[in-house]
Amino acid sequence: MGRQRTRMEVWLGCGVATLAVVVVALTITIIVMVTKKSDTLPAAPTAPASTVSTVASTTSTIAPPPADPYQQPYNENLYDTIVRQNLAQQADISTQLLQEFQPMNIRDNLRWLTKTLHVAGTPENAAVMKQLGQQYQSYGLTLKTHDYQVLLSYPNYSMPNTIEVQLAGQMDWNLVSNGTAQLLGPPEAMQQENDSRALNWWNGYAKDGVATGRLVYANYGSLTDYVLLDSHNISLQGAIVIARYGDIFRGAIAVEAERRGAVGVIIFNDPLDYANDLPASDTFPNTIWLPPSGAQRGTLLQTDGDPLTPFYPAKPYTYRTTDEATLRKEHAMPNVPVTPIGYRDALTIFQQMTGPEVTGDFAQWKGGMNVTYRMNGGDSTFRLTVNAFTDMRTITNVVALFYGADEPDKWVMFGNHVDAWTFGSIDPNSGTATMLEMARVVATVSNRTGWRPKRTLAFCQWDAEEYGLVGSTEYVEEHLKLLENRAIALLNVDNINGNVTLAAKGVPLLYRALVDAAAKVP
Ligand SMILES: *[C@@H]1O[C@H](CO)[C@@H](O)[C@H](O)[C@H]1NC(C)=O
Ligand SMILES: *[C@@H]1O[C@H](CO)[C@@H](O)[C@H](O)[C@H]1NC(C)=O
Ligand SMILES: *[C@@H]1O[C@H](CO)[C@@H](O)[C@H](O)[C@H]1NC(C)=O
Ligand SMILES: *[C@@H]1O[C@H](CO)[C@@H](O)[C@H](O)[C@H]1NC(C)=O
Ligand SMILES: *[C@@H]1O[C@H](CO)[C@@H](O)[C@H](O)[C@H]1NC(C)=O
Ligand SMILES: *[C@@H]1O[C@H](CO)[C@@H](O)[C@H](O)[C@H]1NC(C)=O
Ligand SMILES: *[C@@H]1O[C@H](CO)[C@@H](O)[C@H](O)[C@H]1NC(C)=O
Repeated sequence: MGRQRTRMEVWLGCGVATLAVVVVALTITIIVMVTKKSDTLPAAPTAPASTVSTVASTTSTIAPPPADPYQQPYNENLYDTIVRQNLAQQADISTQLLQEFQPMNIRDNLRWLTKTLHVAGTPENAAVMKQLGQQYQSYGLTLKTHDYQVLLSYPNYSMPNTIEVQLAGQMDWNLVSNGTAQLLGPPEAMQQENDSRALNWWNGYAKDGVATGRLVYANYGSLTDYVLLDSHNISLQGAIVIARYGDIFRGAIAVEAERRGAVGVIIFNDPLDYANDLPASDTFPNTIWLPPSGAQRGTLLQTDGDPLTPFYPAKPYTYRTTDEATLRKEHAMPNVPVTPIGYRDALTIFQQMTGPEVTGDFAQWKGGMNVTYRMNGGDSTFRLTVNAFTDMRTITNVVALFYGADEPDKWVMFGNHVDAWTFGSIDPNSGTATMLEMARVVATVSNRTGWRPKRTLAFCQWDAEEYGLVGSTEYVEEHLKLLENRAIALLNVDNINGNVTLAAKGVPLLYRALVDAAAKVP
């Protein structure tokens, strides 16, 4: 889940998404990379020595050199002259690159990339990274891998997070959330996704433990919402906050609640924001909209990169300048239990709430569930149990290089992460599967024609993005000087979805390149 743009992306100032863009990205490369002239075409095969003498003795004239198919008459166009582009060759290579893309390869890539749950720092994700590196190598690219030892967090998959309620004046606790989604979809998909770990709802870096208290609703958990609660003297001291996703970064929802004394935080996806306000029957698998048991997983980390090594690469020799307890105390990660839930369970919880209705200043706090939205749970007590742990794990970035012909030390970079919260078919492997095909296409056309891009292409596959841009941040921290001198441009994808309309964000410098490249997509 792209909670924000990757550090790499921000650093070079561009972010890109959607299928068309990747095709476009490739075309941009061609524009950015001023293609090399005919001297990169394969040399004409040399005839064996014996035939050379025969030829020499029977003809007295030396054959003219073969015509350069890309030779252009002198062009008055100042741009062409200055940049010395061989436009005919560029157009030809561009067409060959576009024609070489095989959509079925992207499908097959996606299949193997998403066969297992592959959360960062797990053996499953390490296996995906390894195979990805081998795949790039098999296309003829040079493989570099970069390991880091970082602090990650996991749920206890066998003990899902739970929420219980003890109604006012009663003794027993009733379960209102069992912390697990429901397996949905066509039978084939359900079979492929049959891994109970994919059903756990959890947030990265949530504090392990139990929170007990009254329940207070905080709308989107934005600063504006908390200030409104403050202004009405509604205290969060000792309370569990329930808030909905959709306005701000989830980590900030938790931190502001905690600053006001909250002991636990529950975050749900309101159907108004995530199901287009449709009834459950019009959600997945019948439509693309979020079903009642769907919940957004995601990190709560407030900083980018490995939390224990800010500004330094998390190598074995790096001094850890802080520790988990300090980070929690300083609100870089929450010091209270936090969990996401689906609106299936949020509905059950709101049905148990007895506080005043949201009206007046709070009228906008009403969402899309078929229930009366209330300010709090009255005198009932709620109990949130989060089963989680942190661990030092090794992550690996894969960087595959296709060396340029003229300026191999200048890099045009493509980036995307590989790790996912579950199978990652859309986020992020729809992008990864396409990047891999881009590499194959470039290598194939190069093998066929002898063409190489002017500059090196770097296919960067980041690890542990989901936790807070960890892989890419550590890579930049380790290679900052190098990148300052080598990086020419970065095109980043996260996931590829939507329709045929191109959506791209980038620095103004890339505007023309994007438009020109888009125009080449058939
Ligand atoms: C390109 O050629 C190299 C060298 O023969 C080969 O190893 C590589 O697999 C080829 N790449 C593709 C994508 O066919
Ligand atoms: C997860 O929960 C199980 C069952 O209660 C327990 O045996 C196990 O130790 C827990 N694992 C971790 C890593 O806490
Ligand atoms: C969790 O609760 C829902 C109903 O709220 C139920 O349909 C589902 O089967 C339960 N899952 C587990 C694993 O108990
Ligand atoms: C998932 O696997 C379990 C056994 O591990 C099996 O009982 C169940 O029928 C499977 N469900 C689906 C939808 O394939
Ligand atoms: C909040 O409390 C302050 C101080 O006790 C009081 O002056 C103010 O009127 C209260 N505001 C509301 C909305 O109750
Ligand atoms: C909303 O809930 C009420 C009572 O629980 C029910 O009678 C009504 O049919 C529901 N409306 C919709 C649109 O589901
Ligand atoms: C595709 O989706 C975008 C964003 O939702 C929308 O602006 C655009 O009109 C859609 N294009 C088509 C062809 O449906």
